[in-house]
Amino acid sequence: MISKKVEAALNEQIRIEAESSQVYLAMASWAEVQPGIDNVTAFFYQHSEEERQHMLKLVHFVNERGGVAKIPKLPEPQSTFPSIKSAFTSLLEHEIFVSQSINNCIDIALEEKDYATHNFLQWYVAEQIEEEALARTMNDKLELIGDDKSGMYMFDRDILTISMAPGTKPVV
Ligand code: FEO
Repeated sequence: MISKKVEAALNEQIRIEAESSQVYLAMASWAEVQPGIDNVTAFFYQHSEEERQHMLKLVHFVNERGGVAKIPKLPEPQSTFPSIKSAFTSLLEHEIFVSQSINNCIDIALEEKDYATHNFLQWYVAEQIEEEALARTMNDKLELIGDDKSGMYMFDRDILTISMAPGTKPVV
């Protein structure tokens, strides 16, 4: 059974994962109408879907542990981006924010001596390490590419492979 404090923290995390899914869905939809970045588009769609799975995992956990999961109302996400690099910078910043929020949930679980929730959240800790590493890799590559069109062509060609490489995480 989870305490009210843990329930509130996990419900906030449900909201954040749902919002992440929306934010990346908006990036995917924006990317889909930009020329020549079909794989970047696919990457954002996959990432959005993955965040939805993170949300669902939390919904099930809260409900199974005697709490009540709240399905949140979400603000409209940013729908246009000045560049591909700017979308990926937002993605990295967002993942850092998600990691901080997971850490906060863990702090509360420990305060409440809720070791089951602490254990459950370790999956998210590992996931965030991989997601931040992946986002940093993408940003580093885009920094090198700059305005070089052939570099961007290769980035789009390789992005799904990069996201599956060792040290990063599969996005499918
Ligand atoms: Fe589920 Fe990338 O936060």
